[in-house]
Amino acid sequence: MSKFAGPLRLGVNIDHVATLRNARGGDIPDPLRAAQLAERAGADGITAHLREDRRHIRDDDIDRLIDGIGIPLNFEMAATREMQTIALRHKPHAVCIVPEKREERTTEGGLDVARDENKLADFIAPLREAGCRVSIFIAADERQIAAAHRIGAEVIELHTGAYCDAHAEGRLEDRDRELDALRKMSAHAHALGLEVHAGHGLTYETVKPVAAFPEVMELNIGHFLIGESVFRGLEPAIAEMRRLIDESRA
Ligand code: PXP
Repeated sequence: MSKFAGPLRLGVNIDHVATLRNARGGDIPDPLRAAQLAERAGADGITAHLREDRRHIRDDDIDRLIDGIGIPLNFEMAATREMQTIALRHKPHAVCIVPEKREERTTEGGLDVARDENKLADFIAPLREAGCRVSIFIAADERQIAAAHRIGAEVIELHTGAYCDAHAEGRLEDRDRELDALRKMSAHAHALGLEVHAGHGLTYETVKPVAAFPEVMELNIGHFLIGESVFRGLEPAIAEMRRLIDESRA
C-alpha cells in the first residue's frame, strides 16, 4: 500500500435494523439507536436507503437520523422524482444514487450511468446546487467511471458485491480478478479527480484488501455488521470492523 494513504472513513448502513423493525411494524428496534451506537463505536457516517417500497428506513426516519447523530448521513436513493424531492427537502450531507428494482433483494448491480448520462446529469444538478455531495454507485468499469465524471458527480462508490460473492463461493480466480478491477478502477477514478468510496457485501474476511487501496476514502458496510451484532453486539461488531480497516490502512 502507498505510504500516502490517508485515513479511511467507515460508513455504517443501518437499513437492516429498519428491516427488522418493519417485520413487525411498530418502532423497535430503532434504526436511530443503532446509528447512535455506530457513532460511539467509531463510525464516521451513517448510510440509509429510502427505497420506493419503504422496506428499509421510512420517511420519518430521515429527520430523526439527521437530528439525532453527530456524523454525516449518506442518503441512498434511486434516481426518481419522488426521491429527488425528498432529498431536496432534507438536504442530507451526501446522496448516493443507486439503481433500484422492486423485485431485487438488495442493490444488485451498479448504475448504468453511461446509458442514462443526460438524464442523470439533469437529475443530480439540483442536488449539487442544494449542497449535497453526490455519489454514484457503479461497477468497477472504466466506461461508467468516465460517464460519472462527465455528469459532474464528485464521488463514485464502487460496487464490491461481485468480489465478495466470489470470495464467499470459493471462486478464487474470479475473486482475484474482481479485486484487481476494483484496485485499477479506484486508481483510475482518483486520477480523474473523483473521490472513491466502496461497499456492498463486505465482511471481516473481505474488507482488508479493499481498505488497503490508498485511493479509497470511505467504505459503506451494513448487512454483515447488523448480522454480526446478533452474536457480539452492535458496538463490538463495528469496533472490530474499524480495527481491521485501520490495521489494513496502517
Ligand atoms: N453501498 C451501497 C451503495 C449500497 O446500496 C449498500 C447496500 O444497501 C451498501 C453499500 C452496503 O452493503 P451491505 O449491506 O451488503 O454491506
